[in-house]
Amino acid sequence: MIIPFTNLAAEYDGIQNELDGAIQATIRSFQFGRGSTVTKFENAFAGMLGMRYCIGTGNGTDSLFSILKAFGVQAGDEVITPSWSWISTAEIISLCGATPVFADVDIKTYTIDPNEIEKAITPKTKCVIAVHLYGHVAAMEVIARICREKGLMLIEDCAQAHLSHLDGKYAGTFGHAAAFSFYPTKNLGAYGDAGCVITNDASLDEWIRRFNNHGALIKDDHLFAGSNSRMDQIQAAILLAKLPYLRKRNDLRVRNALRYAALLCDEKNITIPASSAGDGHTYHIYAIRAKNRDGLKKYLEENGISTIVHYPSALTNLPPYKGGVNADAFPVSGRLEREILSLPIYPELTDDQIAYVCEKIKAFYLK
Ligand SMILES: Cc1ncc(COP(=O)(O)O)c(C=O)c1O
Repeated sequence: MIIPFTNLAAEYDGIQNELDGAIQATIRSFQFGRGSTVTKFENAFAGMLGMRYCIGTGNGTDSLFSILKAFGVQAGDEVITPSWSWISTAEIISLCGATPVFADVDIKTYTIDPNEIEKAITPKTKCVIAVHLYGHVAAMEVIARICREKGLMLIEDCAQAHLSHLDGKYAGTFGHAAAFSFYPTKNLGAYGDAGCVITNDASLDEWIRRFNNHGALIKDDHLFAGSNSRMDQIQAAILLAKLPYLRKRNDLRVRNALRYAALLCDEKNITIPASSAGDGHTYHIYAIRAKNRDGLKKYLEENGISTIVHYPSALTNLPPYKGGVNADAFPVSGRLEREILSLPIYPELTDDQIAYVCEKIKAFYLK
């Protein structure tokens, strides 16, 4: 059996007519930049999350960057961010000239540990970035309380958490602003780069909208020097066509996660993702921790099963950040580097495929 890590073709095949129609209609409109389809998507996505404003951007990294710029983050400021994440959540701080201060993550949820946030706060701290990694919402109630008490801006990175929730409250609705990515493999993915910022703050909406459009809201109205990072009409049309299926597709990921859990819960050599009542995990990634991870990965590959390591290195061990930190201060991230392994989890995965993956995992440890 061959099991790829992702299967974008299966999603396309399921709604090909809608997607092709949306793309063709956009081409025929000959409006490619920001336009009415982008606005329609922005309104639909904000509405789905129960938020007031959504600003379509070029990608998730620019979404995060424009939020930090809106908060005036600059040289001399510190921003607390998890040591275990995708590099965007550190590099946008560096791009502002500020200092990323890393906080280790929780071993169960793989998201930023609130105790580590508290330890990392100094008089220079301006913001905290909470990343809802793999689709699991971080401990937002505690983190929001810490930020409130210390007067810090709270940014949510929802690149991997479309419609993830905590006790029914969506990721992206806890902080001052949230960034989403619609990179093609995300739970809601475009056919190229795209992203957005979500907020309830009208002045933030206007500033970020301007920043990502050369400082202008309409043509030639350049109030300040900005950038160019806009969602385009074709990506918006694709996202709008896919949006009605997002909830159902997330449910299928959850169903697959439950199947994995049922078949793998007695395998002592691995740890399956933690889940508890009220944690609205959407399983963008199904990350297990495994003994002899590299051996297991190789064995699965030999048996036709593709897996990925998200991520081979903690941010604190990557060249841009390695020199400035004490690697021993991030024991959980260090452990994840050695143990983490992502199994295929896309909605179209069949029961037989899941059973085969689990059978091979068990066979590896019996060898
Ligand atoms: C957690 C996280 N943050 C930010 C991003 C950046 O998004 P983009 O690739 O759209 O710039 C990603 C993308 O993979 C991500 O996984």
